[in-house]
Amino acid sequence: MKRSEINDIIAEGDAFIRSHGMILPPFAYWTPERIRGREASLIRARGLGWDITDYGDGRFEEMGLFLFTTRNGALADLRQGRGMLYAEKVMISRENQLSPMHRHDLKAEDIINRGGGDLVIELFAPTADGGIDETARVAVPCDGVMREVDAGGRIRLTPGESVTLMPGIWHAFWAEGKDCLVCEVSTVNDDRTDNVFREPIGRFAEVEEDSAPTRLLVSDYLDG
Ligand SMILES: [Fe+2]
Repeated sequence: MKRSEINDIIAEGDAFIRSHGMILPPFAYWTPERIRGREASLIRARGLGWDITDYGDGRFEEMGLFLFTTRNGALADLRQGRGMLYAEKVMISRENQLSPMHRHDLKAEDIINRGGGDLVIELFAPTADGGIDETARVAVPCDGVMREVDAGGRIRLTPGESVTLMPGIWHAFWAEGKDCLVCEVSTVNDDRTDNVFREPIGRFAEVEEDSAPTRLLVSDYLDG
């Protein structure tokens, strides 16, 4: 993706989030220099912040996702079973913009439709070796009520509805009708290691630096 395109998507996304009455934390608006500074060491270490991705495929409108990680705990806490075991993201899934089929080994996540269009989620159960089970039905909790679909079946979350996806459950999603404001509440998140995609794609965008970044992406500082 071009950096100029990422800058535009961040500005549009921020306006969309505000239009739904939600405001991001202060560090969302820090300059790249400030995010690289000592004061932001925990922000960088936990992978907090902007995350605009086309999954390395170069077609953001068709396949991509806007994410902002607002909080993220520590894997060490998760291993200990106490402490900051949780994470939260704000996301925008645009109308008919695919977040491709994937699963997580470690992360359990609630995907919540906070407003806008419907969010449609396609589901498969995992096989014993973690592959896609093309035949088994899938049952997922949705706001305290189990819903069950055929392999590859879809659930539709209208504004206010959510689904809980346990580790291993394969899922892909997109918005229908309008762009959708989505929140994710999960266990500790590590996007460097905990996304297994069905297709051979990447998790982060490859960035072409055609202009200066207005905001850094998590992928700009996750490993440094
Ligand atoms: Fe996921």
